[in-house]
Amino acid sequence: MPLVVVDHPLAQHLLTRLRDVGTPPPLFRTLAKRLTIALILEAVRALPSVEVEVQTPLETARGRTITPDLVAVPILRAGLGMLEAVTELFPEITVGYIGLERDDATLRPTSYYEKLPPMDGRHVLLLDPMLATGGSATRACTSIAAKGPAQISFVCVVAAPQGVARMEAEHPEVPVFTAALDRDLTDNGYILPGLGDFGDRLFGTEPHLGAPPNP
Ligand code: PRP
Ligand code: URA
Repeated sequence: MPLVVVDHPLAQHLLTRLRDVGTPPPLFRTLAKRLTIALILEAVRALPSVEVEVQTPLETARGRTITPDLVAVPILRAGLGMLEAVTELFPEITVGYIGLERDDATLRPTSYYEKLPPMDGRHVLLLDPMLATGGSATRACTSIAAKGPAQISFVCVVAAPQGVARMEAEHPEVPVFTAALDRDLTDNGYILPGLGDFGDRLFGTEPHLGAPPNP
């Protein structure tokens, strides 16, 4: 399974500002969207494309267009922070949703919503900013794979070694694109050094602004 760490200086700049505990939700949302654009550029780099001719105001030019039908699937809720970047880059993209919530004690994801379009032969960009234990990402990949897409690419902001290993074990066919491969997980499943709870920081839902609760 290819693991691609997007080390472009702009991606790293944006990630560093996302990690900063002092970054408030409005800025966090903007940074998350910008970083997602950088990640998606890498995720679509290897997609098949065909040569086309286009008429410029002066003459014909050769160019390329990306051929596969794309589907974006954000894992709710934090994946929503990555969706707008993708729909702006690919306005025709189809969007499906997978709602998963990790149990604080078991760290296992529970499914609360799923609405997926036909996937047959299409290329899926699966969006979730945090790959921690890998429970959520692998579960989502399993649901999507059952619908027969040509390819799934998983795009995240930060990955933990444990999550990467689990993806490798359960979905070796899915490449992972991330801005960082972090060091470890806390006992309660938060990525170290990480950036805290992405969903809480994105939506401003917790007074601790994403700092994980004590185990
Ligand atoms: C977070 C995150 C991932 C998941 C990662 O979601 O957005 O979906 O945890 O953890 P894992 O790799 O151990 O499964 P959470 O369950 O906190 O829900 P939220 O997006 O609604 O905040
Ligand atoms: N989910 C998050 O939002 N952050 C983590 O560090 C791990 C899971």
